[in-house]
Amino acid sequence: MRRYAAAMTDPVLTDAWWREAVFYQIYPRSFADANGDGVGDLEGIRSHLVDLVELGVDALWLSPFYRSPMADFGYDISDHCDVDPIFGDLAAFDALLAEAHGLGLRVVIDWVPNHTSDQHPWFLDAASSRHSARRDWYVWRDGPTDGAPPNNWVAAFDLTAPAWSRDPRTEQWYLHLFDPAQPDLNWDEPAVVEAMHDVLRFWLDRGVDGFRADVLHTIGKSPELPDDPPEVAGIPHCALNDVPVTHDRVRAIRSLIDSYGDDRVLVGEIYLTTTEAIASYYGEGDEVHLAFNFPALYAPWSAERWRSSIAETEATLGARGAWPTWVLSNHDNPRHRTRYDEAAARRGEDTDTRARRSEARARTAAVLLLTLRGTPFLYQGEELGLTDAPIPPESALDPGGRDGCRAPLPWDASPGHGWPSGANGPWLPLPPDSEIRHRAAQQDDPGSILHLYRRLLRLRRSTPALRRGDLELLDAPDGVLALRRSLDGEIRIVLINTTDLGVDLPSALAPVGWQVLLASDDPEPPAAVPLRLGPDQALILGP
Ligand code: GLC
Repeated sequence: MRRYAAAMTDPVLTDAWWREAVFYQIYPRSFADANGDGVGDLEGIRSHLVDLVELGVDALWLSPFYRSPMADFGYDISDHCDVDPIFGDLAAFDALLAEAHGLGLRVVIDWVPNHTSDQHPWFLDAASSRHSARRDWYVWRDGPTDGAPPNNWVAAFDLTAPAWSRDPRTEQWYLHLFDPAQPDLNWDEPAVVEAMHDVLRFWLDRGVDGFRADVLHTIGKSPELPDDPPEVAGIPHCALNDVPVTHDRVRAIRSLIDSYGDDRVLVGEIYLTTTEAIASYYGEGDEVHLAFNFPALYAPWSAERWRSSIAETEATLGARGAWPTWVLSNHDNPRHRTRYDEAAARRGEDTDTRARRSEARARTAAVLLLTLRGTPFLYQGEELGLTDAPIPPESALDPGGRDGCRAPLPWDASPGHGWPSGANGPWLPLPPDSEIRHRAAQQDDPGSILHLYRRLLRLRRSTPALRRGDLELLDAPDGVLALRRSLDGEIRIVLINTTDLGVDLPSALAPVGWQVLLASDDPEPPAAVPLRLGPDQALILGP
């Protein structure tokens, strides 16, 4: 048994709202379409805020809605301080923020510090001449004489492509860790730091509750831009870039945010592969408040793998007094229901078994996500149990192949399920099963996964032990994950069966006289703790 306690290093931050909040990620293009043009918008989000309050989340993270040519669907920004007309305008943002705050929801927005669009006036200016006053705002290099790029870094999205493009006009290469339409800013240039800090101030002054900082670990680069070692050939440089100077820059960003008081949050997307590397960006409590825990997102649906991921997260972050986060899905990865199902297919599960297990697994995963120690991030649509939309290669839009998880949310029984139908349909096809899985249908069905998320969020909110209690990994039969959460004498046991076999429960996991407070598969489970955990079932027990 391993026990993990909340590290109490800072009396102010242990009370911080973001430690107990449940975040809900909105990908604005695909959330809700108020003006019927087939692309979601800020007004669509505003009109559904009450649904999110009813769901029971505390904070929203909005993916980019800024002016953008949309080469990376908004992560290529051409004006950081304006709303792209496809999403609305600044007045629509202010209205959304005010209404969210009025409903008690916090709003965190995406901030993309590593790169801009190649259509940003800064880049247009920088690229216009080697002597442009903004030339050094981006990273320009001469290549070797053989026509090769300046180093061997690989760009994200197209792993066969270099992270450099040659600009024929000024005959130099510019760096882009992502798409060629996303040139990297040069954070060695003080004017860039000031300009990007000004962007933070612009939105903090408007009242946002914080930022999700996009690939924050990439804003510092090794000054010599050395080749990546041959053993990591084919891994994009953005997943490898990890240099000390970045920490100074993150500390400066944190101080700026702290200058607005202690209730704004900095969430880092630190897209590195180990928990240890990610944890270092919490600094000494002076860098990010929270960082996404990607190794857990990539963990397969296996009790043993999750057990070790939880133990590693707790040990690594605990050593720093850092607060964990948990996430299963986002706009960059296949949805977890899809991932777990594809893994089942690879294991040889037949179609009927997969169909039966898929939703049950999504439900047990929800129980796990919302009972771990740390801040959970939900991705829009997981509360509906959505799977990815299959997108044939000839219809792909995203340079990174991520269209499937970005399929629009089905809202109701109308022909377009809340989106325009027919020839002018939504920007991406709706997810499979939209006719039975839309929100309105689930709203009317207490047995739906939507109601499970609501029950879970209600239980979490009313149970201090689940929000901020210690966590202990209990010994459990194979395939079962057992957690004990406790705070000031309040104790809960969480049991997650990741297999499709019933499992007899040892008495330590089914204390006599305890009750079932929540079951993943039944809105009104029998109160008495059963002797056996059902296949793909999760239970929360309390005295
Ligand atoms: C982050 C975003 C991703 C984007 C990339 C470049 O990883 O989550 O969607 O493509 O950064 O901005």
